[in-house]
Amino acid sequence: MNEEQKRDYQEKYRIAKLRGEKFFPDTIYKDVLVSFALFLLLIGLATFVGVAPEPKADPSDTSYIPRPEWYFLFLFELLKFFPGSLEWVGTAVLPGLAVALLFLLPFIDRNPRRHWKNRKFAAGLMSVIVIGMVALTIRAVVTTPPQAEATVAGTLAERIVAGQDLYAVHCVECHGAEGEGGRIEGVQGLEGVTLKPINSQDEMHTRSDETLYAIIEIGQQTLGMPPFGRAYGGELSPGEIESIVAFMRYTWDDRAEMPRAAEQASTLPVLKPGETPDYATHIEPIVKRYCVSCHRPGKANNNYLMRTYDEVMNSGDHKPNIIPGDLRSNLVRMVRWEKIEAGGPMPPSRPLKPELIEMIEQWVLAGAPEKAGAPATK
Ligand code: HEC
Ligand code: HEC
Repeated sequence: MNEEQKRDYQEKYRIAKLRGEKFFPDTIYKDVLVSFALFLLLIGLATFVGVAPEPKADPSDTSYIPRPEWYFLFLFELLKFFPGSLEWVGTAVLPGLAVALLFLLPFIDRNPRRHWKNRKFAAGLMSVIVIGMVALTIRAVVTTPPQAEATVAGTLAERIVAGQDLYAVHCVECHGAEGEGGRIEGVQGLEGVTLKPINSQDEMHTRSDETLYAIIEIGQQTLGMPPFGRAYGGELSPGEIESIVAFMRYTWDDRAEMPRAAEQASTLPVLKPGETPDYATHIEPIVKRYCVSCHRPGKANNNYLMRTYDEVMNSGDHKPNIIPGDLRSNLVRMVRWEKIEAGGPMPPSRPLKPELIEMIEQWVLAGAPEKAGAPATK
């Protein structure tokens, strides 16, 4: 461009600017043209490309993890920073502030210059918002769990053992450690309700694995059996429910033979002659099977948690519940089926077998050691 052309151009530009451009119809006309082109493009894409559909919705599929569309992922990710009661900050306050800021930006920044380099404030603010959105979206994508949840793998024996542990945590408080049923004590809302045994041959011979699975997954809510499937608000994955069914089938059904490898895990350890009981070998299996179901967070238990040695020794409203060497410890008296100030008897609905009570007494007398050969606790 030579000087003359340049001047010519600038003159034209000046006149055009003076004349201005009308919003209607000039700008509207351009917008309509572009919108129409986009509209054609969309119709073309929908007709010739289409969208890959996700699998058909299946209400019984508990493994499906619903996620928002990608363009909403940043909002979804933002929510993760705000725990339950503060959710409104992430859903309403922050997005509302961002939109309000964008809305007010032309009023806050009245700078007439148009080049972005001359509009540090406006460009800076917009960049911060965009970078935030992109970063949140990336974070959401990276932390997405794989869609197909692995079911509990392993051999049948491993699944049975896993199922036994899960049964002990989730089911014992109502159905008893051996599925024997009876009167429920110490469970909020079901106090005094009597359950039929679920370990009987009547039960086992008339309930298929699929039926048991469905009962555990969906529950029998009018009767008081809670749902455990994630899709129904429970906490167990499909693989975990399958493991529990395997445990029930192989332990209680006289037609199914328990695999050798699982047999050992299902019997509680006994004391060898001259052996001192310790927590890891002898007591933990008893606690796991008969106590943890109620003595874990979120249950009524006087804040006495029993998931680890440390909790058993040092938690509870009436701690210490175990005083090494002292048979008048709360826990010992309670499992001896006494009712004391701290509560009890324990477990609430039926006493432990005499040999297990004796094992607990011997362990406390020996100083309640954590591991074999470990010094007795002070
Ligand atoms: C809060 C108490 C509670 C918990 C926890 C609980 N159940 Fe139940 N369950 C019930 C009640 C109540 C019923 C229905 C009454 C009945 O059948 O005697 C029931 C019924 C059942 C039945 C159906 C019996 C039948 O064939 O009609 C099975 C099987 C069963 N539960 C298994 C389980 C398993 C496995 C767990 C652990 C994952 C579990 N329950 C946890 C209370 C509970
Ligand atoms: C069915 C649920 C349930 C089971 C199973 C259960 N508990 Fe409890 N436990 C409770 C409740 C509820 C309390 C609160 C006191 C009460 O209501 O008696 C409690 C309180 C206790 C306390 C007093 C804690 C404190 O600091 O006040 C001890 C000790 C205890 N349990 C030991 C055990 C032991 C040991 C086992 C297993 C052999 C066991 N419990 C099994 C429900 C249960």
